[in-house]
Amino acid sequence: MINSPIFQLKNLISEKMGLFFPEERFSDFEKGVGQAAKELGFNDVETCVQSLLTSPLSKKQIQILARYLVVGETYFFREPKTMEVLEKQILPELISLKQKDQKHIRIWSSGCATGEEAYSAAILLHRLLPDFDQWDIQIIGTDLYSGFLRKAAFGSYTTWSFREALSWDLTQYFTKANSGWRIIPCLKKKVAFKQLNLADEQYPSPFDLSDSMDLIFCRNVLMYFSAEKTKQIVRRFYSSLVQGGWLVVSPAELSQTWFSQFEPISFHGTTVYRKRGSYSCIKEDQAVLESEKPSELEKFKFQVQSQEKKFVEGKFLDKIRELANQGKLKEALLLSSQGIKEKSLNKELYIFRAAILQELNQMDEAAQSLNKLLSLDPEYVMAYFSLGSLAVKKGKLQEGRKWFKQVLRLLANYGKEDQIPGSEEMSAAQLKGITVKLMREKSR
Ligand SMILES: C[S@@+](CC[C@H](N)C(=O)[O-])C[C@H]1O[C@@H](n2cnc3c(N)ncnc32)[C@H](O)[C@@H]1O
Repeated sequence: MINSPIFQLKNLISEKMGLFFPEERFSDFEKGVGQAAKELGFNDVETCVQSLLTSPLSKKQIQILARYLVVGETYFFREPKTMEVLEKQILPELISLKQKDQKHIRIWSSGCATGEEAYSAAILLHRLLPDFDQWDIQIIGTDLYSGFLRKAAFGSYTTWSFREALSWDLTQYFTKANSGWRIIPCLKKKVAFKQLNLADEQYPSPFDLSDSMDLIFCRNVLMYFSAEKTKQIVRRFYSSLVQGGWLVVSPAELSQTWFSQFEPISFHGTTVYRKRGSYSCIKEDQAVLESEKPSELEKFKFQVQSQEKKFVEGKFLDKIRELANQGKLKEALLLSSQGIKEKSLNKELYIFRAAILQELNQMDEAAQSLNKLLSLDPEYVMAYFSLGSLAVKKGKLQEGRKWFKQVLRLLANYGKEDQIPGSEEMSAAQLKGITVKLMREKSR
C-alpha cells in the first residue's frame, strides 16, 4: 500500500500543496483524484496518477486538483467569540497605537476561501473607525484555489454566507444584488485577493505585503496540513508579522506545540497568539488555575520546600511519582495541584493529576483535569487516551470509542518510534496497538 502509486501521489500532494490526508480521510482523497482525472485529461484514474507522478505538477494541474480536494467552508463572522475579541480588544488597541502616527493597518486572511473572513475584518474596522476612509487599510485574502478567489473578488454572497450574522443589518455593508448581497465599494476597495500556496517556500518576501502584517488569520486551514508542514507555515507567519502582531487560529487548532514561539493570550476563554515584542499592552486574563485547600497545601508545600529548596521541573514530576508509588496519593495530589499553579503549562502534571484522581476514585475531577489539559493543548494525545480509559471505566463504551478515535487520528502525525508526551515513554506504535486493542475489546 505504502508504495502504491495513489499513496505516492498522496505524499506528493501533501508536499506540494500542503494537503494532508490521514488514513481516515484517504477515501476522500481517492474520490477527489477520481473526479479530477477527467478534467486533467485522462480517461482512467490509474493513468492519471502515473502521469502526475512522472513530471512536476503544473500550476494548472494544482488548480484542478485543489478544486476537488480542498474544503472551502466559510461564512461571515465565523467563530463569533473570536470576532468579538477582535472587535472589543485587539483592533481597538491596534487602532489606538496606529492612530498616533502612520494610520495604517495590514491584515492577512490566509486560506480565505471565498473571502468572507477578509470582508468581516473590513466590516469590523469600518465599525470601529469613524474616519475609516482616511486610514491606509490593506486587507489581503489568499488561497490555494483560484476559483474561490474569483468569487471572493466579485464580493457577492447569498444569505447562507451570513448564517452566523443574520442579526445584523446587511444593508449597512451590502447592496442587494440579483442573486444575493454585494459588498459595498468603500469596503471592497480595502480588500485584495491573491493566489498563494501556503506550502510554498517563497514568502514572506520584501516585495510582497506578507512581510509586515499586523494581524494574520489562519483559521480552519492548518488542520488539513501535516505536522511538519504546519510547523514550517507557522514559522513563516511568525516572520510575516510585525513585533507584537497577532495570529488568529481556530479554537480547534490551538496548540502549544505548533505555536510555541508565540505568546498565547487568553481573553475570556478565547486564545489568540501574539508575536513577542513591544507593541501591545493589552492585559491578558489570568490563566484559570486549580484551587485546592490552601492551608493543607501550604503545610505540605512547606514540608517539601524545607527538604529541597525548589523543585526543578523533572524533579517535581519525580517527586509526585514517588509519592504516588508509595501510596501517598493525597500528598501526590496536593503536590500536583501546586505544580499546576506554579507551572501551569507543564502538561504532564495534568496527566499525573488525572491518574492520581482516578486512583482516588474521583472520576469527574480526573476528567476535569484532562479537559483542562485539552483546553491548553487540543493535540495532546494522552489526554484523549486517558479520557477514553476513564469513560470505559465508567461503562460509557461509546464515549470511550469517541476518545480513542481521536487518539488514532492524532497518532497519524507521529512516526512509529516517536515517544508520546505524558505516556511514560510509550512509542506511537505501542500506544496505537493498545488503543486499537481496547477499542476492539470494548466493542465486543
Ligand atoms: C475550510 S476553509 C477556511 C476558510 C476560512 N479561513 C474560515 O475559517 O472560514 C480552508 C481553506 O484553506 C485553503 N487551503 C488549503 N490548502 C491551502 C494551501 N496549501 N495554501 C493556501 N490555501 C489553502 C482551501 O482552499 C480553503 O479555501
